[in-house]
Amino acid sequence: MSTIFNAEQRRFLKLLGLSIPGESPLLPQGAVKEKAGAVAHAAASANIAASTAPSDAAPAPFDALRAAVRQAPSQEKTRTPQSAPAGEQVSSLPPAEAEVPPIPEPPVPTPLADPHRLAQIAASDWRDLQIMVNNCRACALGETRQHAVFGAGNPRGSWLFVGEAPGAEEDRRGEAFVGRGGQLLDNMLKAMGLTRQQDVYIANVLKCRPPNNRDPLGPEVQSCLPYLQRQIALLQPRIIVALGRFAAQSLLQVTTPIGQLRGQTHHYQQIPLIVTYHPAYLLRSPLEKRKTWEDLQSAMLLFQQCQF
Ligand code: URA
Repeated sequence: MSTIFNAEQRRFLKLLGLSIPGESPLLPQGAVKEKAGAVAHAAASANIAASTAPSDAAPAPFDALRAAVRQAPSQEKTRTPQSAPAGEQVSSLPPAEAEVPPIPEPPVPTPLADPHRLAQIAASDWRDLQIMVNNCRACALGETRQHAVFGAGNPRGSWLFVGEAPGAEEDRRGEAFVGRGGQLLDNMLKAMGLTRQQDVYIANVLKCRPPNNRDPLGPEVQSCLPYLQRQIALLQPRIIVALGRFAAQSLLQVTTPIGQLRGQTHHYQQIPLIVTYHPAYLLRSPLEKRKTWEDLQSAMLLFQQCQF
């Protein structure tokens, strides 16, 4: 098999700074042929846009293919005992009163654990959910944001890409992945034969920008995650791609490093989920684009397998 990428895909692979299989200057000669064959097989199986793969072509198992391709804190009020000044009696109350046990205060529901809020989210439709996100003040990020960012793309698309949190440009415009990372993500999608207008919905774990793009805090993730969970329940995507550590760990509810989460098929509920690097990381570490492309190829293959 020779070339399996169409002209446009080749152009965007180049745009991503990735070499076309068989043209890789990074691999030893022997490996190039082997890898080109494997990649061609993978991509031929996964050529979603063109759908030219014969329907009886048995796709290589995912793991084998990959091997070939790459050689709330509790906020309940607690009573802190007051320390008595030296020499003073601990209790000046008459004994009878001192023995009366303190009346426990009812726990104050915080936005994180507020069952009413969670029930509202879980019962919302797409439009109500959007309104709830836009008006959300469940954590302090609601005070510093310009816009809450609900998502972007086609809610009817089969693919869901999940990022971390809006950046400065997203906060300014109220749309997901429209900064430099977003441009790279669009190029990644084009290389896969996908567009956000047609095939893809893009959402974030956090709907509001953390100041100075700092990492999301645990309670912020906890309070915002129900929105993403409801989005997924309403979208029912065929496949999820988690972009970066926060998205992967939040969706899978693990603390495993991203390096160990890549290269496997996970599931969010019943939906297959692939983990790859975040575009912002790729902007800082362009050499990792190759691994990302491998992850995306795996996702394409998996997507094709899910069709049957
Ligand atoms: N990074 C993200 O994770 N999401 C965005 O929307 C933008 C940048």
